[in-house]
Amino acid sequence: MVSGLILGIETSCDETSAALVGAHGMRGLAIASQDVHAAFGGVVPEIAARAHLTTLDAIVTHALAESGASVEDVDGVGVTAGPGLVGALLVGVNWAKSFAFARGLPVLGVHHMEGHLFAASLEDPEAVPPFVSLLVSGGHTMLIEASAWGQYLLLGATRDDAAGEAFDKVARRLGLGYPGGPEIQRAAEVGTPGRHSLPRPMLSSTDRPGDPAYFDFSFSGLKTAAALLADELEREGRLAEAVPDVAAEFQEAVIDVLVEKTMRAVDLLDAPAVVLGGGVAGNAPLCERLAGRLGSARSLYTPSPRLASDNAAMIGAVALHRLEEGERSPWSLNADPALPFPGLVVADEIHPPSSTAF
Ligand code: KG4
Ligand code: ZN
Repeated sequence: MVSGLILGIETSCDETSAALVGAHGMRGLAIASQDVHAAFGGVVPEIAARAHLTTLDAIVTHALAESGASVEDVDGVGVTAGPGLVGALLVGVNWAKSFAFARGLPVLGVHHMEGHLFAASLEDPEAVPPFVSLLVSGGHTMLIEASAWGQYLLLGATRDDAAGEAFDKVARRLGLGYPGGPEIQRAAEVGTPGRHSLPRPMLSSTDRPGDPAYFDFSFSGLKTAAALLADELEREGRLAEAVPDVAAEFQEAVIDVLVEKTMRAVDLLDAPAVVLGGGVAGNAPLCERLAGRLGSARSLYTPSPRLASDNAAMIGAVALHRLEEGERSPWSLNADPALPFPGLVVADEIHPPSSTAF
């Protein structure tokens, strides 16, 4: 039984992060974002791994200093073991195993997406199952029913690009910076959706629960449509002035799809709450729209942008929960870029609570 302070470590992509998490929530968090990738318009795996290696010690020291705790106060270690870039993951996993072994502490390998599922609970103790969760990051787009911690049903997922990836690629085509999500959100603030028209993929009103398309997503076609629109506007010499309008229409299209699919799940399962997670959950217009659709009868839990995007506090939160349940990883714990999501079952067919509802 571990009831004290957990050191969380996250190095799956381009954020090097360490955090201290205890029963009363987060006590310290340090995140170093690797700006070096911006020049390439995307994450360069080898550069990411090397940067984690040179930064991680200092980041742990920062997190400990912020928490007011010392190394002696740490009772267990949680580390992202996958999915992610293998070289980047290896840095965190080996650091965590070495630290835990040297100090005689338990270590637990954590699934990065389960971390995103736990992030909102760090700021709001009521953000616990049962809930429907929309996880939207740079690598994943998943709609999940969580009936309890560790008991997850995958309702739908993207068939191609993740939502965040589409934001990044469209931002790049529009000449905006990386990461693209916040840049598109900023550009869209002074643009008007609807001046240009982009598709809302997989939103056919004829889909019914049980059709795989009912909950699945696809963002590749939308990304291509945005690129073709940009090409056309460029040929006409109007792209620079149209960037805010294209950004606004693209963002609106993504929000339309994400919110509609989430509401389908909420209505079908009569879910009391929705939990957002992943970097795209930092998109304010997405949160506002979802809050409006949920109304006052159902709750929306959204992590603040710092905890929505990659961070080690969410990894520490999962580790705290699982270590308390008695779980341990063996010393053979390894990085696994294709790590299965623990407790996740793929839904074959979902039926409404009342069979007369549909
Ligand atoms: O969860 P995350 O930090 O890393 C992954 O696990 O992938 O998500 C990063 C993604 C990027 O694609 C980024 O563009 C997107 O989240 N993102 C946003 C916003 N902030 C970050 N997308 C839309 N609006 C935002 N405000
Ligand atoms: Zn992530």
